[in-house]
Parts: sequence; structure tokens; C-alpha cells
Amino acid sequence: MVRIENLVKQYGKLTAVNDLNLNIETGDIMGFIGPNGAGKTTTIRMVATLLKPTSGKVFVDGIDVVADPEAVRPLIGYMPDFFGLYDDIKVWEYLDFFAAAYKLPKPKRAGSIDDVLELTDLTIKKDSFVSELSRGMQQRLCLAKTLLHDPKLLLLDEPASGLDPRARIEIKELLKELRNMGKTILISSHILPELADFCNKIAIIEQGKLVVSGDVDAIIEQCRGGNVLHITLLDRQEEALALLNGMDTISDTKIEDGTIAATYIGEPGEHYSILEQLSKNGFKVTSFSEAQVDLEDVFMKVTRGAVS
Ligand SMILES: Nc1ncnc2c1ncn2[C@@H]1O[C@H](COP(=O)(O)OP(=O)(O)O)[C@@H](O)[C@H]1O
Ligand SMILES: [Mg+2]
Repeated sequence: MVRIENLVKQYGKLTAVNDLNLNIETGDIMGFIGPNGAGKTTTIRMVATLLKPTSGKVFVDGIDVVADPEAVRPLIGYMPDFFGLYDDIKVWEYLDFFAAAYKLPKPKRAGSIDDVLELTDLTIKKDSFVSELSRGMQQRLCLAKTLLHDPKLLLLDEPASGLDPRARIEIKELLKELRNMGKTILISSHILPELADFCNKIAIIEQGKLVVSGDVDAIIEQCRGGNVLHITLLDRQEEALALLNGMDTISDTKIEDGTIAATYIGEPGEHYSILEQLSKNGFKVTSFSEAQVDLEDVFMKVTRGAVS
């Protein structure tokens, strides 16, 4: 659905996007993660045909965004990171204005507006002034606007930023609905765990450069450099530690709250052999489990180099 090839954007001497390569398949929900200033908005705006690359190419559904932006625009719904100020305009007028801008035929407009209002749970606000809506509702309205022309690809730039926890959850629910509708979504955030349970792919960008991209699970696997085993014993903890430290499938051990945390670097799925060896040596193991790695840890690991 999106192919980004050697994409570069320079603002004077600053290279905001530096030789970026990224593919998004149809149906993917890609989390585009990076700290503030990493180049997320710049990249998204280039995909959205709103900013010209310094060099490199972007294709949406096979169409070159620079060569034929008019053909690309109907395919995409772009939600900017900043919702403009709209005084003296009602919710339905706002949507009607954009429906006209998207060249929706007049007889179809009212129906499309009702559809997106329902989807974003704003039907009761149809006659309210935009300026009277809460931040969360304004954000949903902005999303409603991007859905009017039923685009295949959604480009969402930090849609949950600045929202309170409740509004965040509402946006998330809405995004899940869009995913289930089969939309392809590129969604940015500077907070990784916010997207973790929602995306199937992630791309992490730092100082304009892609740090890592791919399946969420594969990236976690790649970054954790071994699984951490949590082992609790009835007694003889120090002796067990010595035994573990002598194993070549264990790279590191420490004791946390009376439990041994041992980093396992052997064959994946064969960590039961550690338990076998402990038992064989007469240790009374009361609990043995593999720790879950959370995405925040992965993010810290991946980006540590670039940040420091
Ligand atoms: N119009 C602009 N002119 C000059 N520099 C810009 C402009 N827009 C963004 N930048 C710079 O480009 C870098 C990337 O910005 P941006 O794409 O907004 O990052 P992000 O969305 O990840 O926070 C930043 O250093 C920012 O200051
Ligand atoms: Mg941004």
C-alpha cells in the first residue's frame, strides 16, 4: 500500500528525514514511533502529498505521490497532529465543508456525514459548535473528517496526543473499529506502549533515520537478546546461582526480591533444560517462569544509542 524508498527531506542544513526505507502492506497497522523531532510528521506529510521530498520516492498503491498527487489524495485520509481552530461553525457544517472539498456528490454528502458521525460517536453533537466540543471530541471529529471519502489508507499523526486517559481509550476503540473495517493505517506516536497492543508492525525512527522496523513480535525477539527466566527456590539460592553462572546457555544472573533472574541465551523454547539441571542437582525449585518483555524496554534498548 505504501512504499517509501530512500526518502530524504532537508530543511536548509537540517536533515529531518534521512534515507528512509519503509513498506506498509495492505491491512497493516503500522506504529510509527520516535521521540519529538524524530521526523515522523515530516515523513507523514510527504506520504500525504503535502510536502515535497528533497530526494527519494513514495508510492501509494503503486502511484508516485510527487508525479501524481491528485490520484493519491482520494486514497488517503490524513489526520494532522494539530486540529485547527474553527469558530462559528457547527459540526455538520464542518463535515459538509470537507465533504465538498473531497468532491463528494451532493446527494451522497448527508449520508456520508451521518455515517462518520455515528462511527465516531458524535451524532448527538451534530448541531453543536465545533469550538464547544471537548478536546477528545474535536479529535474524533478530525478523524471523522478524514473518513468522509472512505479512504483505504489512514495517515494519523499522533491522534491520541494531549488527550485525557478516557478520551485516549475512546480513540483507541475507534481505531480498532477502523482496523476491523480493513483500513491500512500508519499511526505515529512518541509513546511506544500506547500502540503496542494495536499494531501488527512497528517502525522506530530517531533523528530522521529508521532504527528498526518489522513485525512487533519479531522486533521484541530481536531486541531482547535472550529471555529472562525467573526462578524461585526453597533454599540454597547462592549455590543455584553458582550453578547457573557456570552454564553456557545463561549469560547473566541477578537476584531480585528473593527470585533469581537469569538471562537465557540457549535454543528458543528449550529453557526447560535449565529446570532439569537444577532438579538433577537437588535444588527445590518452587517457581520457574519466562518473563514477559514489555515494549517500553524494547524501545529504550533500540533507541538508547541514538539518544545518548
Ligand atoms: N518547516 C520546517 N522548517 C524547518 N525545520 C523543520 C520544519 N518542520 C520540522 N522541522 C524540523 O525537522 C525535524 C523533524 O520534525 P518533525 O517531522 O516535526 O518530527 P516529529 O513529528 O517526529 O516530532 C525537527 O528537528 C524539526 O525541528
Ligand atoms: Mg510530529
